[in-house]
Amino acid sequence: MKILGIETSCDETAAAVVEDGRITLSNIVSSQVDIHARYGGIVPEVASRQHMLTILPVVEQAVSQAEVTWKGIGAVAVTYGPGLSGSLLVGVNVAKALALTYALPLIGINHLEAHIYANWLNGKDILFPCLCLIVSGGHSDLVLMVGHGKYSRIGRTRDDAAGEAFDKGARILSLGYPGGPVIEATARDVVPTIALPRAWLRGSNDFSFSGLKTALLHLVRARESLDHFWVTDAAASYQQAIVEVLASKTIAVARALDVKEILLSGGVAANSALRDQFIRRSPLPVIIPPPSLCTDNAAMVAACGYYRFQSGHIDCCELDVVPGLGIS
Ligand code: KG4
Ligand code: ZN
Repeated sequence: MKILGIETSCDETAAAVVEDGRITLSNIVSSQVDIHARYGGIVPEVASRQHMLTILPVVEQAVSQAEVTWKGIGAVAVTYGPGLSGSLLVGVNVAKALALTYALPLIGINHLEAHIYANWLNGKDILFPCLCLIVSGGHSDLVLMVGHGKYSRIGRTRDDAAGEAFDKGARILSLGYPGGPVIEATARDVVPTIALPRAWLRGSNDFSFSGLKTALLHLVRARESLDHFWVTDAAASYQQAIVEVLASKTIAVARALDVKEILLSGGVAANSALRDQFIRRSPLPVIIPPPSLCTDNAAMVAACGYYRFQSGHIDCCELDVVPGLGIS
């Protein structure tokens, strides 16, 4: 079964065709990053307008690159939350129109679940129960998954998400936007020497990154100027503090719960220091999508849609956006 996935929850306009939830036939992502970079962050109004301009060509390209006709598509899956309401509305309404036009089932997808399902596009079989770490711009969730569509969130961030911490840290260091990739590039091959705090929150599976961000801000304010060597050290030290907490806590929880595997997902999972840390330290198998499937894309939406469809979930044209949707 070939599913068309549509993703417009934030600043990527994306469409993809995936077969049987595992084989990517096409995966088109049109990024707005250059448009928002001049503002130092995403401007919601600009994002939704840009989605409107781009969505139809992106869908057309995904279908033609997959070498299918509309008759060959079995369903349309679309992200309905969480995300920016104006952006979500564009994807959901286009998906509804396509489902009506071609008489296809419509499947509403939780963006956080979709991030987890990027791991099914990896070619490896996933074993349940597994522990999923979703680290994106808006979320840092630890989710126990016992079967398809069966989740319980057992940890979350109490303040900033990991991606948000990267973005704010980059702004404090005047490195630009988006913060994750630029901190990773600045920190590459640099040995971190600056002591920064880690919020271990012992006895809890939660995370906290706002204290780390404030500590970096105080260090920057105490300096007369930001020379290149100090900034690279600060970027590497800051990255290490985030990565160490994410890896140590996730691995400890996975061992305590005796899960079979750890699944990473979300934009921050593209970070090579995070990937290395997990692979080096985890006694359990760690599954990580390739970087292009960690950041927002529609192949993960289509993969998730396949498993949701298999378990009998179909939505109707009443489907509405839920900007504050969580995973439970
Ligand atoms: O999953 P995603 O593409 O969108 C959301 O659902 O939020 O994640 C975006 C976040 C941003 O905060 C970005 O800075 C971060 O992921 N990110 C990274 C890297 N690439 C993207 N963080 C650290 N290292 C990276 N290489
Ligand atoms: Zn995302």
